[in-house]
Amino acid sequence: QIYLYQNRLIPLTQVHISPEDRGYYFGDGAYEVFRVYNGILYETEAHFTRLKKTVDALRIKLPADHTALTRQLEELVRANRLQEGIVYMQITRGTAPRVHAFPAGAEPVLMAYTQPLARPVATMEKGISAVTTEDIRWLRCDLKTLNLLPNVMAKQTAVDHGTGDVVFHRSGTVTECSASNMMIVKNGVVRTHPADNLILHGVTRAVVLRLAQSEGIPTQETPFTVEELLQADEAFITGTTVEVTPVTSVDGKPIGDGRPGAVTRQLQQAFEAAIP
Ligand code: PDD
Repeated sequence: QIYLYQNRLIPLTQVHISPEDRGYYFGDGAYEVFRVYNGILYETEAHFTRLKKTVDALRIKLPADHTALTRQLEELVRANRLQEGIVYMQITRGTAPRVHAFPAGAEPVLMAYTQPLARPVATMEKGISAVTTEDIRWLRCDLKTLNLLPNVMAKQTAVDHGTGDVVFHRSGTVTECSASNMMIVKNGVVRTHPADNLILHGVTRAVVLRLAQSEGIPTQETPFTVEELLQADEAFITGTTVEVTPVTSVDGKPIGDGRPGAVTRQLQQAFEAAIP
């Protein structure tokens, strides 16, 4: 298994991350998860645009521009002969003795690896169940930082309930899920939380909203409540790893007739057709 470490492709055994890396102490860094279809990186530009927004907000300097980083990730994919899977990439503020303020002179540490991962065909076909949980995260959920403890805790809640994921809500308003965005369909209209500071601006979310428009399906980026989710005709989640996965029940109650809906199916087909 070859890793990208700084700007070098090296085996995992040669990657030496310091215990003083600020990612380890503080979660002080940013990350992206890219999809790879047929050996090709998917929506690369959108991922790097989002990464740039996160590192700019954190005041971490990327060691190279989008074009150079894309080339390095492409080389990584080739080195690992990855056909279907993901690339995980993270960049931390660097290595320094533990003080909260930004340490002077720390050099950002960049690391990326690939992981084979099949498309989630079974869950896309069947759908998943979910449980609601209060969204206790901070007010910059639009930044893709390494601080994922609330997401980790929430996902474990889903596992403990024997469900596929959680639906986060802030005082009854649905935001997103632990690692995906949430959409509902009511009377033929696709609705999802607006891309503000309370959700991650999912790359897949944007793709699906675009596809809906070209399919002639009306979309609305307005918040909806847990109650509206329960009353929806259909619900689904979008994300790099889940693509378009139906949510067929929430808190033990069926959504619509409890089976993946027609609009969800249409968007799944459109998504599949657009895969490189
Ligand atoms: N998660 N919302 C959250 C909180 C996420 O962590 C993710 C992605 C998404 C979907 O974004 P995208 O469509 O760009 O993948 C929404 C990645 C896959 C992860 O943390 O593993």
